[in-house]
Amino acid sequence: MLSKIQEINNSLQECVKHIKNVNDVEEFRLKFLVKKGLIQQLFDELKDVPKEQKPLLGKDLNILRKNAESIYEELKEKFSAKTSTVKIDVTLSGRRQQCGSLHPVKQIQDEMISIFRSMGFEIAEGPQIEDEFHNFDALNFQPDHPARDMQDTFFIKSDNIEFEKNTNKLVLRTHTSPVQIRLMHAQKPPIRSIMPGRVYRNEAISARSLAEFHQIEGLHIDKNVSFAELKATMMTFARKMYGKDSKFRFRPSFFPFTEPSAEMDISCFLCKGNGCRICKGSGWLEIVGCGMVHPNVLKAGNIDSEVYSGYAFGFGIERVALLRTGINDIRYFYENDIRILQQF
Ligand code: PHE
Repeated sequence: MLSKIQEINNSLQECVKHIKNVNDVEEFRLKFLVKKGLIQQLFDELKDVPKEQKPLLGKDLNILRKNAESIYEELKEKFSAKTSTVKIDVTLSGRRQQCGSLHPVKQIQDEMISIFRSMGFEIAEGPQIEDEFHNFDALNFQPDHPARDMQDTFFIKSDNIEFEKNTNKLVLRTHTSPVQIRLMHAQKPPIRSIMPGRVYRNEAISARSLAEFHQIEGLHIDKNVSFAELKATMMTFARKMYGKDSKFRFRPSFFPFTEPSAEMDISCFLCKGNGCRICKGSGWLEIVGCGMVHPNVLKAGNIDSEVYSGYAFGFGIERVALLRTGINDIRYFYENDIRILQQF
């Protein structure tokens, strides 16, 4: 028995010399320290040893086990520390935290709002579900105006017969201009506000147009408001938005709710004015419709057109965003392709 103890002790020392990694340490434990290991085997054999020898051999065996255990603890410490320094490579670049950002259309909207705020405009909002009165009648659309047509407007239907009997039908607003009427009813002049929001049109989706998009409406009503002031406001905006050297032009136009009416174009970002698919070959892109508020609209808003005058304008936000970002297809804004959105 004594020689067996000696033998295991030697093999223990020998084994330690060859340990190189955590796996070897584990092998050491399995060989010497588990229940079926070499040391426990000797403890089992102790019961067959003559009684007088037991105390002495037991003592030696205990020393052997303690020794093996403390060697094991030391090895464990040494090699696990080593492997951890191998695993952490401090020269690797860290993991980047993914961070979201505002959608480009929202960014442009914020920028437009801050330009108009710097010119003294307040912000107002109205409902996206409108009635025909606010969306059309009060804005001087004649009952047979083609814009009211089902082809342009999303009408809201209901199973409720009473609801369907109502002649003032509900629609998804086709522009932000109905907020002008709500504002005139809510506030006496002077009025100087912009009205950002989502609008809907029953249109075929293409590189230039969507069925759901955003506008910013503007309304200024006071005594002696002139067309020259409207023009100056539009030009100041365009210079702040697109830079001092940007090229733009005014064209006479028609809207039922403004007289006279105009549209402002900005030179096409894509072809630099030479004519392309986006600008339909004209070299110009329309960004805003505007004009002097029609007296019938002032009347519908309970404002005396003999005393007050005003101007109104309406921008398509996606249009403005196209020109700023250089994206050549409006649909990209809403396809949610992260490769496009994360550029802005
Ligand atoms: N509401 C018009 C449109 O949707 C734009 C506009 C607003 C024109 C205000 C003139 C004045 O096209």
